[in-house]
Amino acid sequence: MRREDFPILEQQVNNYPLIYFDNAATTQKPNVVIQSLVDYYSTINSNIHRGIHSLSMLATMQFEEARENVKEFINAAHMYEIIFTKGTTDSINLVASSFAKQFLCEGSEVIITEMEHHSNIVPWQLACEEKKAILKVLPMDSHGNLHVEKLKDLITEKTKIISVTHVSNALGTINPIKEIVEIAHLYNIPVFVDGAQAVSHIPVDVQYLDCDFYAFSGHKMYAPMGIGVLYGKEKWLEKLPPYQGGGEMIEKVTFEKTTYGELPFKFEAGTPNVADVIGLNSAINYINEVGLRGIYDYEHQLLEYATEKLSEIKGLKLVGTADEKSAIISFNLNKIHPYDAGFLLDKYGIALRTGHHCAQPVMDRLGIDGTLRVSFALYNTKDEIDKLVEAILNVRAMLL
Ligand code: ALA
Repeated sequence: MRREDFPILEQQVNNYPLIYFDNAATTQKPNVVIQSLVDYYSTINSNIHRGIHSLSMLATMQFEEARENVKEFINAAHMYEIIFTKGTTDSINLVASSFAKQFLCEGSEVIITEMEHHSNIVPWQLACEEKKAILKVLPMDSHGNLHVEKLKDLITEKTKIISVTHVSNALGTINPIKEIVEIAHLYNIPVFVDGAQAVSHIPVDVQYLDCDFYAFSGHKMYAPMGIGVLYGKEKWLEKLPPYQGGGEMIEKVTFEKTTYGELPFKFEAGTPNVADVIGLNSAINYINEVGLRGIYDYEHQLLEYATEKLSEIKGLKLVGTADEKSAIISFNLNKIHPYDAGFLLDKYGIALRTGHHCAQPVMDRLGIDGTLRVSFALYNTKDEIDKLVEAILNVRAMLL
């Protein structure tokens, strides 16, 4: 699908055509996104929101158009509920830090799940340590399905927030966010969703999900690195104190007191990453043009095909076989260390990720050190999967 739009895919790596299966780590960028950065820096580069000159006004306009486009992309109710950040990790840190200041105290409880990426564990741990609050964990089964039926038992009157990933980066599980939100809202508990592995693979509608916060990164959705989004419902964003202080986020500053700007600027201190916001806008236009529903269907075909082909390999064990999965497959090969297999697969030009995938508790739960992980994007093909299978058979023969 649209492979020709991605110049990096034309190259050879180790004398083989590049097969890029590391899309959960970062996706490649289409020409239109690369060109949008070149255009920005070669025509309108300037600071925004504060200039009266023409270039500044043009840059401001494009920046705010991007915000509108993000709002449409995830179907947020208001543009001012879209905050630009450095990425998902930054978005989670923002909410964990500001939420803790306002709502956590000694004995408060925060619920996360057993399948979180470290970036949706550590910020909450830091917040809980600071406030002497308690971090509780919703378990999963050995296939990678969350035990959602146990959520009600975990909730108490001290539970202040629940934070959960939409799609597991290590296992590919798609979590039932709407169901989790419905349970949480019975107790008036807000839900934060880490959407880093979801937004470029499955259509996301934050009003339908009714989640209170939703975070994602540009670089996993064909946009540049260093740009991300935090969506928050107005009622929650209004209640949270600023995360960082600086220019842009103020209304009035005196030495005695500062009043803060309105949403979203209250959470956007300092000069923003204008170029990459414009790159993100271009990536969203690209995804819309290809069609997210079509991308989901296509990647799902790749997932089913690869699952079937990999399962046929003797000694290959799939890790993560949840009922609902996105286009991520983790596996181990006999007793071969994932790093050794990954190193040799690279010699065939195949890029995939090995290790614990920044989800050590998932590996602990499953009693393994790590996995090999292939993760698909719209430009991958069945032919590449066939080549992966062939290469795995060669690697296994070499190492066993
Ligand atoms: N979180 C990214 C991954 O899963 C980096 O690879």
